[in-house]
Amino acid sequence: MDVYEAVTSRRAVRGFTDQQVPREVLERVLSAAAWSPSGSNLQPWHAYVLTGEPLAELKKRASERAAAGDPWDEPEYQMYPSELKSPYRERRSDFGEKRYGSLGISRDDWDARRRAATENWACFGAPAALFCYIDREMGRPQWSDVGMYLQTVMLLLRAEGLHSCAQMAWSVYRRTVAEVLSPPDGLVLYCGMAIGYEDVTVGYARTGRVPLDETVTFVEGWHGTRTPCRPGHQGVEPNNNNNQRDIS
Ligand SMILES: Cc1cc2nc3c(=O)[nH]c(=O)nc-3n(C[C@H](O)[C@H](O)[C@H](O)COP(=O)(O)O)c2cc1C
Repeated sequence: MDVYEAVTSRRAVRGFTDQQVPREVLERVLSAAAWSPSGSNLQPWHAYVLTGEPLAELKKRASERAAAGDPWDEPEYQMYPSELKSPYRERRSDFGEKRYGSLGISRDDWDARRRAATENWACFGAPAALFCYIDREMGRPQWSDVGMYLQTVMLLLRAEGLHSCAQMAWSVYRRTVAEVLSPPDGLVLYCGMAIGYEDVTVGYARTGRVPLDETVTFVEGWHGTRTPCRPGHQGVEPNNNNNQRDIS
């Protein structure tokens, strides 16, 4: 499988068979994913892989919490801005319509939507899951490094014939996850990930993407009143600030 195929065949799979994922496959994937880039090579990800009894126990505890209507744990980070502005608001609403529409759930049926979301606590039936933490002291660039790491993991899983679903949802039950994983103090749970073989009998609607020109701007020449850079000059003034030590 080439990289393009890995990228385009990866999607959030929400239905897995109970076929076990061999430990050596997970080790191969995570050993390769360790080559993900990170600013100054901090490698700020802390990944825990759960299978077997511990995963079954976590699913049970989280499902019980959800069934009991237990309130979510206090958030350690904000999943989304409280007021999503355009165009993100519309994109989220499109996603919701696709995701829940494919399950026959109408736009306003919030109860049914909530019930569908509880499948998160079963990891959508996946027999393996990864939980990714980051040190509380890390900043936005390191959170972005962790995102690159997770995408690398998901692409490598494709190369192994596996599928995944990133699950930020687990952050709302982070205390339950911590009961099972016992991570050291100082780590924040960013995201879970269901991992396994796709159950092809489970229907889904493929999410689309906005046209390229909504998210990408090619700058190929100087137009209008913009002052061109001097030839050979990249438009950045020399940096004489000695406080700037390392930008790699
Ligand atoms: C960081 C992150 C967290 C996510 N959390 C969840 C989640 O908790 N539950 C879920 O069902 N999907 C989750 N998703 C999946 C997204 O909804 C999905 O990636 C998006 O709609 C695009 O669809 P695609 O991945 O199938 O292309 C998450 C994705 C990312 C990248």
